[in-house]
Amino acid sequence: MTVELCRLDDIADGDSNRFVAEMGGVRRGYLAVRQGPRVFVYGNSCPHIGAPLDFLPGEFLNAEKTHIMCSTHGALFRIEDGYCISGPCAGKSLIPAPAEVREGIVYLV
Ligand code: FES
Repeated sequence: MTVELCRLDDIADGDSNRFVAEMGGVRRGYLAVRQGPRVFVYGNSCPHIGAPLDFLPGEFLNAEKTHIMCSTHGALFRIEDGYCISGPCAGKSLIPAPAEVREGIVYLV
């Protein structure tokens, strides 16, 4: 099943945004980080206690924009694979949502 998540232009290059999509009859919140033509998508739920990660709606990155950062306790996650490198859930990972970009549209696949 393929579901449209957003337009690529809905995410500023080098930055993040939040979206809601329905997959398999279940509506979930997602975070997406764009690096040029590539987009990394994860469920918007921290592996620590399940809180949404964004500080303000759609703001998921640390100040240097090198990592995804949880707003609740500051855990840092690698953008490319969602692995937590520091914080109370170090060693755990965000839930990946495989995505692909076609003709300027981001799809969950
Ligand atoms: S809820 Fe994310 S680090 Fe605690």
